[in-house]
Order: sequence, then C-alpha cells, then structure tokens
Amino acid sequence: MTFAPTLFEGRCALVIGGTSGIGAGTALRLAELGATVLAAGLRADGEHAPMHDRVRCVELDVTDGPALHAMLSKEGSIDILVNCAGISRDRAEYELDVFEHVLDVNLTSIMRACNAAVPALIRSRGCVVNVASMFSTFGSADRPAYAASKGGVVQLTKSLAQSYAPAKVRVNAVAPGWIATPLSEALGRDEDASRRILDRTPLGHWGEPSDVADAIVFLCSPAARYITGVTLPVDGGYLTV
Ligand code: NAI
Repeated sequence: MTFAPTLFEGRCALVIGGTSGIGAGTALRLAELGATVLAAGLRADGEHAPMHDRVRCVELDVTDGPALHAMLSKEGSIDILVNCAGISRDRAEYELDVFEHVLDVNLTSIMRACNAAVPALIRSRGCVVNVASMFSTFGSADRPAYAASKGGVVQLTKSLAQSYAPAKVRVNAVAPGWIATPLSEALGRDEDASRRILDRTPLGHWGEPSDVADAIVFLCSPAARYITGVTLPVDGGYLTV
C-alpha cells in the first residue's frame, strides 16, 4: 500500500465502468483507502465486479442518460468521479452505427456523467479522472472509433478542467498502456502480439489494473491539488519509444 489508509475516509466516489478491469481495480483501491464507492457499469454482478464492504456495484448503461440521472439522484454527495467505461469493436468500427456507439460509450458518456455530477462535485469541491489511452496519441487503422474517442477524451478533459476550475473542481485523465484486463485478454494470449508489445515497453511487462488505479488515486489526492487538465500516461514508458 503506497498511500495512507485513511486518505479518502468519509469521501464518496463514483466509478463508471467500475464493474471490471481498471475500473474495478480503481473502485477497490479507493475503498481500501477509506472511500465509499459506487461502481457502475454492465454485468454488475459478474465475475469481474469488485468485492469490498465499501463498494456497491450497480448496473448502468452509460448511453442511457435518464438511468444515469436516476442513479445520481439517489446519491447524496460525490467527491470523486472516475469515468472508465470503454469498449472497442475493432474493424467493425468502420460501420457508422458501430462508430457512433463506440463514441457514445467512450466519449459522450463522460460529458453525460460530468453534466449530471457537476452540481454535487461543486458542492464537495471534488475531482474527476477520465480514462484515455495510448490511442489518444496514436491513430489506429484497426480501431478508428476507439482512437477518435480517446483523442477526444484528452481534449474534453482540458475543456472541462478550464470550465470547472473556478469552482475548484479538478479534471484530469490517465492514459493506460497495455494493461491485463478482460478487454485486452485476447491480445495477451496472442504470443506474437504480446512479444511486440513487451519489446517496445521500456519497463518490460504488461501493467496491472492496480498500476492505473494508483495513478488515479494520486490525481484524486490532495497531493495533486494544483494539477488540472493533464493526461498522465501509465504505460511503462511505451509512449516514449
Ligand atoms: P474492461 O472490459 O475490463 O472494463 C470495461 C468497463 O466498461 C466495464 O466495467 C464495463 O461494464 C464498462 N462498460 C462498457 N460498456 C458500457 C456501457 N455501455 N455502459 C456502462 N459501462 C460500460 O476493460 P478495461 O481494460 O478495464 O478498460 C477500462 C478503460 O480503460 C476503458 O476506457 C479502456 O478503453 C481503457 N484502457 C484500457 C487499456 C487496457 O490495456 N486494458 C489500455 C488503455 C485504455
């Protein structure tokens, strides 16, 4: 454990896309540090959902605005909002309806969640962390919607950081590298692809959800009090090569 175990005692966190992978790891870490956490996403009772006394998992489709508002209206306060929901549909993203759906889940949902949560965040002087990607920087012939959405996450993070700053609400992002989660499982099993990734990763191994969770914890902590609008790579150095 790299942070004081009471860091977020008395704080309420909402992790959207918190029912698997990086989001589930983040929900757990926030709870371990004292926060009460609502982890929202698909398959909320599935095998990848976080299990902790202070984590409650709820089923939510981020493309469903009324459901999001209904969920938030039941919550008293929000100190931390993490937007982690994400999907990729590979080359099917060249089909316009698939393209739009990926944009909706990965990018528009962040605007939707921030619009819904900002009154509570202003009351608490809270903070937001969005989850971008290395594909915020690179293009991807195999994932055109994914890369476009993740580029958008970085720009939206900067815009919301400016917009919310007068209310002392900070907005940042992390850009994970190759992290072992259900989303990346197939790639991890592909030995050639995994070898190419490792050869290009200076730290020489895939990341774990907890590696990203700890960066998110930092951005939510008082240690990051003068940081807003940044996207922090958490990628073992992949972007430097
Ligand atoms: P995952 O598949 O394990 O988790 C994705 C989460 O998004 C789940 O909680 C799922 O329920 C939620 N989600 C998907 N569609 C949703 C919808 N319509 N409504 C509500 N929730 C929805 O994947 P992983 O790897 O944990 O990904 C989390 C985030 O990290 C994503 O934004 C992804 O793009 C990003 N990322 C992941 C990387 C990796 O190597 N695993 C690398 C870079 C970014």
